[in-house]
Amino acid sequence: MSVLLLTPDEGFGTRVRSALGPDTTVELADADVIDEDPRFAIPTIMTQHASAQVVVVGPDIGVQHALDYAHEFDLQRPDVSVILCVPASADVLSEALHAGVRDVVDPLAGDERILEAYKRATEAAARARSKSTVEERNDRGSTVIAVASPKGGSGKTTIATNLAVGLAAAAPGQVAIVDLDLQFGDVATALQLMPEHSIADAARTVASLDAMSLKVLLTHHPIDLYALCAPDSPADGERITAAQTAEVLRLVQREFRYVVIDTTAGLGEQTLVALEAATDFVLICAMDVPGVRSFRTTLITLDEIGLTAAPRHIVLTRADARVGLNVEDIERTIGRPIDVTVPSTRAVPLSMNQGMPILQTEQRRSAVHQALTRLTGRFVDLPSSGAIAQPRRWRRRR
Ligand SMILES: Nc1ncnc2c1ncn2[C@@H]1O[C@H](COP(=O)(O)OP(=O)(O)O)[C@@H](O)[C@H]1O
Ligand SMILES: [Mg+2]
Repeated sequence: MSVLLLTPDEGFGTRVRSALGPDTTVELADADVIDEDPRFAIPTIMTQHASAQVVVVGPDIGVQHALDYAHEFDLQRPDVSVILCVPASADVLSEALHAGVRDVVDPLAGDERILEAYKRATEAAARARSKSTVEERNDRGSTVIAVASPKGGSGKTTIATNLAVGLAAAAPGQVAIVDLDLQFGDVATALQLMPEHSIADAARTVASLDAMSLKVLLTHHPIDLYALCAPDSPADGERITAAQTAEVLRLVQREFRYVVIDTTAGLGEQTLVALEAATDFVLICAMDVPGVRSFRTTLITLDEIGLTAAPRHIVLTRADARVGLNVEDIERTIGRPIDVTVPSTRAVPLSMNQGMPILQTEQRRSAVHQALTRLTGRFVDLPSSGAIAQPRRWRRRR
């Protein structure tokens, strides 16, 4: 666990260190950067201190500046817990509360108070990153997971199809996967499906589409998963408008508890529609320098265009220790911790060529199976064995 202090007061750093003990890493942000406009300072600071989940703002940075930080953290990084360390008046408290601040601690507070505030903030940060928030969202409706990445070939389809299979094991009949790689979508291939209809048919008829006619256009997978596949011809995909896609997604979302959306590389119009519809982003970072760079740009762009509300699940795919990059370097560059690392293994292309996602196979002990199970577990409670059942058992349950 690590805590980041936004203060020019090094003496305060020493006090926090002694209050929190040797197990907690206490980092101090660069004093020059702290003075800048929080809107631009936060991405820089959080890049330099990627593992910080609790941030203490203050003392000695000015109450208004501290509150601006609080507001901006709330917008840019809802996963981070903020503690304000400023003299607290009623006005400050009410504005701090508004900005989602976890606690306001007096700059002269003793060790015990600092420790208590830190403990609570850490718990809140952990909650924000765990299933409980997902469950809260489920109460409001379905979970819509958009899988996106700046680069092609990074593993979006692999992740999306495995996620759909994993979710379907926990919620049979309640999961749909939508292929928004409209020109060269390969969800059908990855799942060994022979679709009779595609999203092009749904788009064409969207004005008159209802639950019944939608189901006709979906392709059913034997594990009780539904797929809205991409059209055969790229020209048909080209004709689908963003407005039609938005409407189709709305209909699918109404009928299913979980919707997984596979997308095409980059942040094109159709992918933005997917992200706007999504309650969760699964963002795929490939393990090479161009991949990591473009991933970082993608995170910044999502912030700039205001797509900040949905939790971001960061997945590093095709991870391989031999390519000269390590996870810590990547986390530092992108300014975020990696949530799930999927190793690079031949089993993945093999599984895709066979049309049988890894989570549908028996290799439960393999690192890649476990990584994909962990990713699925971010959205749903898995059976206590942690394992995902085989197709035959699924069929029987139906
Ligand atoms: N973890 C992995 N290890 C090895 N190969 C992988 C891994 N993930 C994806 N691949 C392979 O990389 C290629 C591209 O993956 P895919 O999921 O189709 O990416 P995208 O949908 O982003 O274009 C495929 O051949 C796939 O089998
Ligand atoms: Mg793909």
